[in-house]
Amino acid sequence: MRTSLAVVLAAGEGKRMKSRLPKVLHPVGRLPMLLHVLKAAEAGAHQAVVIAAPHAADDIRRAIKERGLKADVLVQEEQRGTAHAALVAREAFSDFDDIIVLFGDTPLVTQRTVERMREALAEGASVVVAGMRPADPSGYGRLIADGDQLVDIREERDATEAELAIRFCNGGIMGLAGATATDILDAIEDGNHQQEFYLTDAVSIAHKRGLKVVAIEIDADEVLGVNDRLQLSEVERLYQQRRRTEAIAEGATLLAPETVFFAHDTYLGSGVVIEPDVVFGEGVTVGKDVTIRAFSHLEGANLWEGAIVGPFARLRPGAEIGKGAHIGNFVEIKAAVVGAGAKINHLSYIGDARVGARTNVGAGTITCNYDGVAKHLTDIGEGAFIGSNSSLVAPVKIGDGAYVASGSTITEDVPEDALAFGRARQVNKPGRAAEKRKK
Ligand code: UD1
Ligand code: MG
Repeated sequence: MRTSLAVVLAAGEGKRMKSRLPKVLHPVGRLPMLLHVLKAAEAGAHQAVVIAAPHAADDIRRAIKERGLKADVLVQEEQRGTAHAALVAREAFSDFDDIIVLFGDTPLVTQRTVERMREALAEGASVVVAGMRPADPSGYGRLIADGDQLVDIREERDATEAELAIRFCNGGIMGLAGATATDILDAIEDGNHQQEFYLTDAVSIAHKRGLKVVAIEIDADEVLGVNDRLQLSEVERLYQQRRRTEAIAEGATLLAPETVFFAHDTYLGSGVVIEPDVVFGEGVTVGKDVTIRAFSHLEGANLWEGAIVGPFARLRPGAEIGKGAHIGNFVEIKAAVVGAGAKINHLSYIGDARVGARTNVGAGTITCNYDGVAKHLTDIGEGAFIGSNSSLVAPVKIGDGAYVASGSTITEDVPEDALAFGRARQVNKPGRAAEKRKK
């Protein structure tokens, strides 16, 4: 079994992002770009190294750790070009059969591409380049080939008329055989421009040494790079498109796919129906046959089989919606377990709570979970009925089968099967309204 090392270059300046956040930590599908690249790399590679700029290294280390990914972060003290950056990891090169160099700002790269690069190396190539045919090739290095051998990569400013006509361009990703990687990179002379060491020079050097150099072709979208926020939004658009296509292929119904926004980890079971304008934050798992109605926002939520959510529902972290439960319009649920078949259909806030199976929570019910200092639990049993416009002041417990009268403010526990009135009794004064009107 061949071993491989992914080297992810992430020491870009990112000035054009106009942000304090290092460029590669800007999110796509709510996951930092760099971590998309690491995940693609992780699938094919055995170990990953990230090359960071000095000011960004700590933030990058933290982001990697937070998501439970594994990669060493090494610092490139000065940004002297892509070859120079890759060489920061040189100590490790000879321990691996394959070295795959990826860019931290091209988050759409796929695991399949990493695998294909490795296959080419396994078939004897010393250098393999990921080529592409972008609609507009301007700005990209052109791949100069001789039959199926790659001879050189010509950056646009150095290209002749004939070379400029070549549509096959350098996507940036490169694979190097571990045995020759250090020698080739060391030989890269100070490039002609800006005192930079270009990784792309590896191609001509390897070719001149009689080594096998090949290109594979990948989709140009995969290597779309992010240098500013406009490009970030374009990459996000393509990412969302990809996710929608996958969701539909896997059996979800999206009524207006272009209006549904996924996070990188959104999980959809089969038979899910998603109406227009639904937004997923991180950490949402949607069970089989769930319906999410229009204009809902979900984050950190777990929906069990057959639940119906929305329209206009907001599920926040810790929302656990039981089998067949209904969460209706203008309902916000946070850190609450809603039992199977329970209904919370209109205008409610249910936070830090348990709602037992089959319980009905009436319109306008609010859990008063916060006393200004701490959050407290509202525990509602099974088969209970909470009348409309009730305030449940936590900590409070409402027993199984209990009934809370509409308009109650509940501050004390309600025993099982009891009826609780938490409001002033109504008094009718006959004729009083008419008398007032006469005055
Ligand atoms: C590179 C290729 C070009 C290709 C294009 C595709 C080179 C020399 N050129 O150009 O042929 O068509 O990608 O997008 O490789 N980086 C470091 N340290 C450095 C310099 C760069 O870590 O000292 C990182 C950057 O953060 C970035 C990546 O390397 O993630 C690529 O560098 P960039 O300057 O964007 O190269 P391009 O001009 O896009
Ligand atoms: Mg670039």
